[in-house]
Amino acid sequence: MNEKKSYYITTPIYYPSGKLHIGHAYCTVATDAMARYKRLCGYDVMFLTGTDEHGQKIEDKAREAGVTPQEFVDNIVAAPGGVLDLWKLMNISYDRFIRTTDDYHVESIQKIFRKMYDNGDIYKGSYKGKYCKPCESFWTESQLVDGKCPDCGREVMDAEEEAYFFRASKYADRVRDLLLNTDFLEPKSRVHEMVNNFIDCEGGLQDLCVSRTSFTWGVPVDFDPGHVVYVWLDALFNYMTALGYQNEKYNDLEKFWPADAHFVGKEIVRFHAIYWPAFLMSMGLPLPKKVYGHGWLNFNGDKMSKSKGNVVDPHLLSQRYGVDALRFFLLRSFPFGSDGNFTNELLIQTINNDLANDLGNLVSRTTAMAEKYFGGNLPEGCGADEVETQVAELVRNREISGAVISQHGGRPEALIDLELVREAAGLRAAYEGQMERFQFQNALNAVFGVIQRANKYIDENAPWALAKDMEANGARLAHVLYNLLETIRVCTVLLIPFMPESCDKIFAQIGADKTARTWDSAAQWGVLPATVSVTKGDNLFPRIDMDKELKELDAIMEEAKKAALPALEVEPFLEEQVDFDTFCKSDFRAVKVKACENVKKSAKLLRFTLDDGTGTDRQILSGIAMYYKPEELVGKTLVAIVNLPPRKMMGLDSCGMLISAVHTERGEERLHLLMVDDAIPAGAKLC
Ligand code: MSP
Repeated sequence: MNEKKSYYITTPIYYPSGKLHIGHAYCTVATDAMARYKRLCGYDVMFLTGTDEHGQKIEDKAREAGVTPQEFVDNIVAAPGGVLDLWKLMNISYDRFIRTTDDYHVESIQKIFRKMYDNGDIYKGSYKGKYCKPCESFWTESQLVDGKCPDCGREVMDAEEEAYFFRASKYADRVRDLLLNTDFLEPKSRVHEMVNNFIDCEGGLQDLCVSRTSFTWGVPVDFDPGHVVYVWLDALFNYMTALGYQNEKYNDLEKFWPADAHFVGKEIVRFHAIYWPAFLMSMGLPLPKKVYGHGWLNFNGDKMSKSKGNVVDPHLLSQRYGVDALRFFLLRSFPFGSDGNFTNELLIQTINNDLANDLGNLVSRTTAMAEKYFGGNLPEGCGADEVETQVAELVRNREISGAVISQHGGRPEALIDLELVREAAGLRAAYEGQMERFQFQNALNAVFGVIQRANKYIDENAPWALAKDMEANGARLAHVLYNLLETIRVCTVLLIPFMPESCDKIFAQIGADKTARTWDSAAQWGVLPATVSVTKGDNLFPRIDMDKELKELDAIMEEAKKAALPALEVEPFLEEQVDFDTFCKSDFRAVKVKACENVKKSAKLLRFTLDDGTGTDRQILSGIAMYYKPEELVGKTLVAIVNLPPRKMMGLDSCGMLISAVHTERGEERLHLLMVDDAIPAGAKLC
């Protein structure tokens, strides 16, 4: 029996310490596209993702939240709106999800730690150095940048503890060789950074501290209570424990190890390209074939821990634009190996240009014309002719020559047809070359080049003009539409890894059955039957009104900012005491509002005419116009302090002050005039 080839690809396992943002989704979407691509090509794929749940940061956060660390991580991973939900929403087709708190993983890590201890690669010592708590990393003085953590730029603290160490230094030469003389780490630009900064640096590759005693939330070292295994050793081995290494839970090592590709963000390349292979060398295990360090999505130059004026919540973004549009945007707009700047504007632009204008338009124009001119069923005989099929075949075998094209019957329109056929039939090879090198953006460029070519083909052939004389031009018109359907089909097959759901919808519209959706069929021409049934469906990617949308996103962010502010704040109580006699000197009276009006040229002031029980009207000015309309207040019984010296405001005398209650709600100041029972007569003293 012909066994399928296997392919094992992983994402980093995420820290469930807070909400995932679009930057986290970036790597997972890329891995998903790669996994789907390999499945499309016929591989038996294992796509692993998961969560990295131990460490001091989680322990601290759980304490702050008043829950156990396990409850804390459960809540972020498995609760509604958590990591698992997000991956479901983003249509992430992982085959296995590992949590480092899973029993089988914990058991495996304990065995691995003991084995490395037994083989002499882990030894006990004492650690003195600088520690970055958020990154859970120890640094030497010389590794710090401006005295701060070189990874995240935050403050580090002095730390000393008894600890176990891994003899990384022993593997320095082998790791250097791996990095410099193989394709283990890509893109190549990251290789020298690793070798220069961590291996050929002053002092060489340092042994790595692999246990902690200052907190307890980790895998316990079973032969030395009080020590827990360093999170990175614990986390990196997930790639193997999830296949059954050192446990009975799974049995897939033989089939899937070594991994074909680990996708990781650039800041964790160090762990994957230096310590991970060294750990594996120590255990005598085969090394993964590739570590690919992708770039970051930045927000105005910063890694996006804070959003800086853009909506970054993947739940919200996919709700507004659709999951496929979001997935597509991430891989279409940024070269995978470099950093990119994320903005909502770029997202909307990409959706409008590529999806609405180019792809959406091509599909809707073609299917609409097939319905309008042929009732959705193209006539017999409009399919690929012999020369077209032959050209496609030659392109597929990379043997194309101009001769075949020029031989084509001398019909001028045939040249245009063959150009389209040639581009569409050659697309798969170009795309494959890019996908194999993880160049998603280039792969999509190739597909969209053909989509744009097909849109041009519509304009060149002007089907609406052909349709004016169906008797003379009907056959040509049908052939033009057939060529467009075939081009759409080929492009759609290649878009499956990026936008699986939309591709299904397009296939349904152009009448492509299962056999017309395969990898093989993407390099063939004439796969759809000539009499294919076409049904125009809903608009797949509606155009977004940029200005309106950006305004709405701004409003959403304002709301979110407000929601993050405290619901209620009151002024702190005064520390200073006031003696009773001084207090009694304040004369508070009930007053009735006889008239109230806005003060001209003032946005704030209201002018009150008040009955204070003396028989003479009292005038008070109060800066509360943004809280009340004057007419609302007439007739109300209020409280005023009446023995303040008069003050001039906007040229008017204010004789006293009205008493209000003030507080802050979600960052906004609120004010309520103190209104008392109308039964209280004007002038009654309040004491
Ligand atoms: N737990 C470790 C990985 C252990 S793998 C054995 C970790 N977790 S993380 O949650 O902090 O990050 C997960 C991944 O998200 C990393 O690859 C990181 O680079 C990536 N990203 C986080 N923010 C990102 C962007 N703004 N842009 C792109 N990727 C980003 O590291």
